[in-house]
Amino acid sequence: MRRRGQLPPGPPLPSSVQALIWARAPLPFMERAHERYGEIFTLRVRRGRPWVLLSNPAHIKQVFTTASERFGAGAGEANPLLGPLLGPSSVMLLDEPLHMQDRKRITPAFHGGLMDRYGEMMVEVARREVACWPVAEPFPLWPRMQAISLEVVMRATFGNVQGERFDRLRERVVELTNWINQPRRLALLAAVGSRSITAGRQFREVMDPVEQLVLDEVHERRRRGPVGGDAGFEGILATLERSHAGDGSPMSETKVRDELITLVSDGPTATSLAWAFERLLRHPDKFARLRDEIRRGEEEIYLDAVVKEVLRLCPAVPLVMRRLIEPMQVGHYTIPAGTILAPSVYLTHLREDLYPNAREFEPERFLDQQAGTYSWIPFGGGVRRCVAAVFAQLEMRRVIQTIVRAVDLRAVQARPEGAARSSVSFAPDGGGLVIAEPLARRAEELVA
Ligand code: HEM
Repeated sequence: MRRRGQLPPGPPLPSSVQALIWARAPLPFMERAHERYGEIFTLRVRRGRPWVLLSNPAHIKQVFTTASERFGAGAGEANPLLGPLLGPSSVMLLDEPLHMQDRKRITPAFHGGLMDRYGEMMVEVARREVACWPVAEPFPLWPRMQAISLEVVMRATFGNVQGERFDRLRERVVELTNWINQPRRLALLAAVGSRSITAGRQFREVMDPVEQLVLDEVHERRRRGPVGGDAGFEGILATLERSHAGDGSPMSETKVRDELITLVSDGPTATSLAWAFERLLRHPDKFARLRDEIRRGEEEIYLDAVVKEVLRLCPAVPLVMRRLIEPMQVGHYTIPAGTILAPSVYLTHLREDLYPNAREFEPERFLDQQAGTYSWIPFGGGVRRCVAAVFAQLEMRRVIQTIVRAVDLRAVQARPEGAARSSVSFAPDGGGLVIAEPLARRAEELVA
């Protein structure tokens, strides 16, 4: 039965109330609506623009494989911060055909042939960070993972980076992220929209220095001319500049600012790494299996399964969005133009028919089963799939490996941590509290 021009059912609450519930508890809100209305339902979180959430892989395939011109970008819809943070000419927020032009310029920087060198750089960054961790006292892992992923992405972006400006940029990005991540500010942002934080003077005070330092770095590089990176890759910035120059259109200041802020504001890798240890430390048998594989230097089979399972069970980005430019038939419904179609990463990954014992952390499932293109979607899909999906999984593997080789970790509390909203992602609400001990000392203790 076709339901022309009619949206799927959803909670009958006014959009102001739905916006508040979404701001306070988006994940339980999605789950309850899913239980009540099934695999396709409508939320009215933003006035005048309904969201149709999908969790059936057949529907998701339809969205990811439909011609991209039929959709506008939707990322700024779920996260109103993205517009003011990334800037309107960020690849993530552009509509077609500009989006595809831009994407083609970025993708060579994530070419498979560069991954070995990126991997070496990731190990080096993680090793240095772990060497500074406190010993035998509790600390939250998430900020440490933020430090690692920020340095990794900055080095991947700028190639050869060291020195005072680099340190200042790092400090200012951390300041900006911490400023945004205050829970009250995030709740206001989700309920009211970006004006709640961008209208005040304070936003400019934390944003301006980041923009300025990024541009200073760009000017310095342009002044010096092309330079090779210290680790054998030239850096994403150089790739971008080269492809723009090849097209005869040098990058404007606004463009370079937006592209680089999009890259350095990567939050999902750090939260995914924090979740990896949050889950592993609460499953000692699985952690032991992983440690054995890593310390024996065996192939990365279980490690890869752990990474996939973390990204399934604790997806850093719980929804991806597309704005419909013309009506589209999905299941029984003809969804009108202007609607947001939102494949729900979170709900799809919790489907029992796709993942038996879906709420359990079971990396073993990815030893027997491939990650499906439309049922395992932590990086979204289609022409807007994360350009850095391979890079991010490599980073997770290299960082986990380096940590496991360097220290023994244990959780401070046995209770699992819940999910808390952060600026661009969802992180463990206790920050992933752990205690680290050097391997050597533990070994001595065991012998004694
Ligand atoms: C575990 C880590 C990461 C996760 C879970 C993640 C997830 C995502 C998701 C869900 C999207 C939207 C996909 C869609 O709409 O279909 C996306 C897009 C994007 N991501 Fe990632 N991401 C991660 C790491 C990174 C890193 C490290 C970078 C850069 C160094 C990056 C750069 C981008 C860019 C540029 C886009 C926009 C692609 C486009 O619109 O064509 N991501 N990511």
